[in-house]
Amino acid sequence: MTGKKSFSHRHVLAMDDLSRDDISLILDTADSLKSISTRAIKKVPTLRGRTVINLFFEPSTRTRMSFEIAAKRLSADTFNFSASTSSTSKGESLIDTVRTLAAMRPDAVVVRHAASGAPAFIAGCFDREFGGAVSVLNGGDGVHEHPSQSLLDLMTVREAKGAISGLKVAIIGDIAHSRVAHSNITGFTRMGAEVRICGPMTMLPPAAEELGAKVFTDPKEAVRGADVVMTLRIQKERLRGSLIPSLREYAACFAVTPELLALADPEVVVMHPGPLNRGVEIDSRVADGPFSLILDQVENGVAVRMALLFLLLGGKEGE
Ligand code: CP
Repeated sequence: MTGKKSFSHRHVLAMDDLSRDDISLILDTADSLKSISTRAIKKVPTLRGRTVINLFFEPSTRTRMSFEIAAKRLSADTFNFSASTSSTSKGESLIDTVRTLAAMRPDAVVVRHAASGAPAFIAGCFDREFGGAVSVLNGGDGVHEHPSQSLLDLMTVREAKGAISGLKVAIIGDIAHSRVAHSNITGFTRMGAEVRICGPMTMLPPAAEELGAKVFTDPKEAVRGADVVMTLRIQKERLRGSLIPSLREYAACFAVTPELLALADPEVVVMHPGPLNRGVEIDSRVADGPFSLILDQVENGVAVRMALLFLLLGGKEGE
């Protein structure tokens, strides 16, 4: 494996921190690691002796499982922390929790938290108190960022289309409350794609144009000629009050249906980070249809997370 010495980051906290070269290195590394998951023996010794803790304060299926599988396929030891079954439920603070875990000497901690900035806060604490010995990977923080999701989305599009630069990517849904949207606006624009965001006015971020995306409220306009259509669920857990009249009306306007997709490029691909709310933001005929890459995204999630762990921890070999 070449290239690991070129990755100069200790943590992966946000797409905004990654250059175009960093992203290409991660995707190339993921490409080369992907075949491990289709072998009879799905394990290589690369990270033997390394320890990865999954520190999840919010629910997750895809991110937590694929980080765990990725670490195990590289032979790292993995441990899962769940807030509901930890001493957090007895009132232990975030800072005391992470200092306690760091004292157990993990090599990497994957953090998901409802508060934007929590992984960066934890990374700062580790750097100060443990001399940079622990890498932090952001597994999704509040409405801020979900970088490993964006990287797996970029990998999936590059695999399907051959390149990312020049593509038209329409992201439809609850943009304002979606960390996936924020990471993907950065990731796709940095790799040279045109990003269009579309949703009800109440679900578009303030000063949306300043994010570098074209802004639409009519999905027909957003999807017209698009090479990639990504639909997002409504982030009910982050909404204060109702931002739409009803789910039925939302679906009538914004669901990605075969009729809406007919306006896109004939070779369009459809993506969704999951979890899906069928019949709300996506029609089952689209989710399960020939243009859907939803399960490819999940498969590539393991490869991208293997690449991130490899690039962050592999470089410590021999120290
Ligand atoms: N896409 C995503 O983050 O899914 P989970 O919440 O299941 O991890």
